[in-house]
Amino acid sequence: MRSSIKTIIALTIIVLLSGCSGSDDPDQAIDIAALKISLGQAIFEDAGLSEPAGQACADCHQASAGFAEPTVSSATPVSEGVVSGQFGNRNAPTAAYASFTPEFHYDNFEREYIGGQFVDGCATNLVTQAKGPFLNPVEMANTSEIMVVEKIRSASYASIFRQVYGADSLEDVGEAYNNIADAIAAFEATELFSPFNSRFDAYLAGSYTLTTEEANGFDIFKNKALCTECHVLKEGTQLLQLGDQPLFTNFTYSNISAPKNPDNPVYGANPGFIDIGLAANPNLSTTVSLEKGKFRVPTLRNVELTAPYFHNDVLQILEEVVSFYNTRDADQCWGAMGEIPLVNCWPEYEVSENVDIASMGDLLLTTQEEADLVAFMKTLTDGYSN
Ligand code: HEC
Ligand code: HEC
Repeated sequence: MRSSIKTIIALTIIVLLSGCSGSDDPDQAIDIAALKISLGQAIFEDAGLSEPAGQACADCHQASAGFAEPTVSSATPVSEGVVSGQFGNRNAPTAAYASFTPEFHYDNFEREYIGGQFVDGCATNLVTQAKGPFLNPVEMANTSEIMVVEKIRSASYASIFRQVYGADSLEDVGEAYNNIADAIAAFEATELFSPFNSRFDAYLAGSYTLTTEEANGFDIFKNKALCTECHVLKEGTQLLQLGDQPLFTNFTYSNISAPKNPDNPVYGANPGFIDIGLAANPNLSTTVSLEKGKFRVPTLRNVELTAPYFHNDVLQILEEVVSFYNTRDADQCWGAMGEIPLVNCWPEYEVSENVDIASMGDLLLTTQEEADLVAFMKTLTDGYSN
């Protein structure tokens, strides 16, 4: 971990040396930028900032699990807060590559919502996002901003905070709280979170040859299985080129009709509970019912490490996800002799409105093609080359 901090600082310095010419005193600007990143990291990893102490951002977003939460057990698929027995209804998604998600907005041309943090876009950007978990009762459970700021005032890195944001910067609670989030967002925007060093990146750079399975999977991903309709590689019909770093999402929202998850404690305790996704976002300017059940298309980078899958963690392994896309609407799963089906082979949808039927559901993939798709997705795990 320590060597990666050094790498980040070194990289930041290089970036600033080549790109930053606005400051009167470039050396000082460089130091502050690097310090802000290490401050953000110290805050991100500080388990003393929850109430009671014991849970850091990093506990639910671990570097070794693609900055998502490692799977503890399939019986409790979602994240538990610092107060034991307190669960959110959603699992921690990856915070890796999140700095590339555009701010939440409505695209007037495409007539759809794009971007925003959280699977329903409720936080406009990384700074607004970072203010949430400290105060969320099912996460770090502080009851006020001042509780968090007081903890930072007595933290070992308080002096770094003052160096970065000014001698008085921990006096005003509102301002200090904003800057806590600002430092976290700076850390989340570093290459530690977005290294682009998977087998797939090496393949794009010409230094790795995909196996036959992986290559077939890539072809199926782009063509027969229609995955790139949403997990896009590049705008329009352009082909990938050397140096491209696709994010495998267009940041739009769809209802791919994930079933409810009875093993998720929130659904278990409230059988009538429905996660309406984007429709719960308070910043919508269009008819809310048209957004019910839609969730933001996630990046597939490091997806091998971020099980279980979908917003409520209903599917445990990648093989199940592919099988769901392949057979959700397939006839062969209907009851014998054409009887009323068991809603195909899959449990009932969580939200049956606004379901995407055009680009999924009955893809006619063979068992081998399903396995190839999984093999391809596993090439997106970072850490192959450095
Ligand atoms: C108890 C576990 C938990 C803790 C602690 C926690 N998170 Fe999260 N995080 C989640 C969950 C669950 C979500 C998804 C919530 C949703 O989409 O509604 C999430 C979402 C996010 C996202 C959005 C990713 C995306 O693509 O939408 C980011 C970024 C993030 N967290 C950063 C942080 C930071 C920074 C902290 C500390 C201040 C933190 N988290 C603390 C569980 C946690
Ligand atoms: C219509 C748009 C769309 C298409 C087409 C699509 N996806 Fe998705 N994908 C989504 C959305 C939206 C989610 C998030 C759903 C949720 O959270 O409930 C998702 C989630 C996933 C996840 C789970 C990620 C996670 O961390 O939970 C995987 C894996 C995945 N898709 C792979 C694929 C593959 C493979 C294909 C092609 C067979 C594909 N997707 C086609 C929109 C799409």
